[in-house]
Amino acid sequence: MKYKELPTFPKDFFWGASSAAWQVEGATKEDGRSPAIIDLNSQTKKPYADNSVAADHYHHYKEDVALMKECGFTSYRFSLSWSRLIPAEDRKINPKGLEFYNNLINELIAAGITPIITLYHYDMPCWVDEKCGGWRNRSIIEEFDYYCRVCFENFGDRVKYWLSINEQNMQIVYGDWLGVSKGCTDWFKDKWKINHIMNLCHAKAIIACHELVEGGKIGPVPGYVPIYPETCKPEDQIAAMNAEELTQKIWDDLYVFREYNSFTKNYWKEHDIDPDIRPGDMELIEQAKIDFIAVNCYRSDVGKAPDNSYKQEIGLNKTGKKGEFVYPNLPGEYALARNPFVEVTDWDWHIDATCMRYSLRYLWDHYHLPMVITEAGFGGHEDLGEDGKIHDEERINYLREYAFNIGLAIQDGVEVFGFNPWSFTDLLSTGNGMAKRYGLVFVNTTDDDARDLTRHKKDSFTWYSKLIKSNGKDWGTDMTAWQDFQKNK
Ligand code: BG6
Repeated sequence: MKYKELPTFPKDFFWGASSAAWQVEGATKEDGRSPAIIDLNSQTKKPYADNSVAADHYHHYKEDVALMKECGFTSYRFSLSWSRLIPAEDRKINPKGLEFYNNLINELIAAGITPIITLYHYDMPCWVDEKCGGWRNRSIIEEFDYYCRVCFENFGDRVKYWLSINEQNMQIVYGDWLGVSKGCTDWFKDKWKINHIMNLCHAKAIIACHELVEGGKIGPVPGYVPIYPETCKPEDQIAAMNAEELTQKIWDDLYVFREYNSFTKNYWKEHDIDPDIRPGDMELIEQAKIDFIAVNCYRSDVGKAPDNSYKQEIGLNKTGKKGEFVYPNLPGEYALARNPFVEVTDWDWHIDATCMRYSLRYLWDHYHLPMVITEAGFGGHEDLGEDGKIHDEERINYLREYAFNIGLAIQDGVEVFGFNPWSFTDLLSTGNGMAKRYGLVFVNTTDDDARDLTRHKKDSFTWYSKLIKSNGKDWGTDMTAWQDFQKNK
């Protein structure tokens, strides 16, 4: 595809960043918030930091919003803590929880920043876990519906963009890592029952939003990692398609078409899996028509035919040292591998800006729905330098090239209405605490020492601010070469 002009962005494009309550707020034991399962899950990953301090956004939100405004943000995507809003089984709403989120929303709106809210980002209240057995029991559907309705009724007058469940696909694929598999005796089969219950919760959220929020729009947040086949060997192609289905397409098809696709049904049959679909379930899902897809896209993966002699369920690098990623290998399905054509982060995540353009085109071609980028980001080891600054050149390069590829996708004809990379301030990584930093703003705290939690603008903050204020024209460098490279690839 050859273009004469550099890409341009729509004039009301949402430029912002992203976060999640438990990763940024801290104050887990303050003002009536009750524990969430993720607090305990984080503690099992010690020596990584727990959530009680995080980036202390709970106490710094005014300063954080002022920095967003200085950067030029027009949007901010964050999540609500269910256990801060409804701390106990009696379902009483915590006035302090309401107050915090009302203050944050009002502060954002006063700064000209549109809030985009995720209802659920991995932090199930412990009381829900105890009462319902986590996602394993259908009684959670009613609790989740009640929680969503509380959010829409209290914030829907000002918040018009909503997201249902963050990365449901990754919660199922990485069930052990994110704590969803807790209490399951046969995860291989049980995960499909859990997934179906999550789909019903997602559907409830979509329906309630449309019922209660005037002008409200809502969508799911798949974690999208496109899979390139390792070679043109036909077996690798099919393995890549299997990986695509089993890590994301099953979810995306369900959200958009509101029925399980034939791959899913065949897979269940083949493996003797009963997802426990009951009368009325599919009718409920059918009513949940989404308005857009919120896309989290950090990286691509490479799929190849599996080695059928062993099983490696999930792929992870737990150390933060390059080259230590353990790749999944699922006999009869697929294996994943290192892509030698791109660089990796210290956690071995492929740095592949083209995957952003690829993902947007793929999703547009399949689903024809508007999209907003709600995550993409560079996680690295960082600390304040001797000059008291953070020179995060790698993050700038990452964000520049990923944002540019959103522009190229728009030029290709895809409808994208915002870019909200991960993350605004440094915050807790899902498994690597503060050791893996993503922020445009450095927060002076570490896993071992809370320090003074002061905020420091990184070089990426300054670079991003110029990009935002020029609405995607000031890239800080000449992008023609990058565009040529893309064209001729
Ligand atoms: C996304 C999650 O999958 O990836 C975030 O929505 C998470 O919660 C982000 O922090 C980066 O992953 P990690 O493991 O590096 O924190």
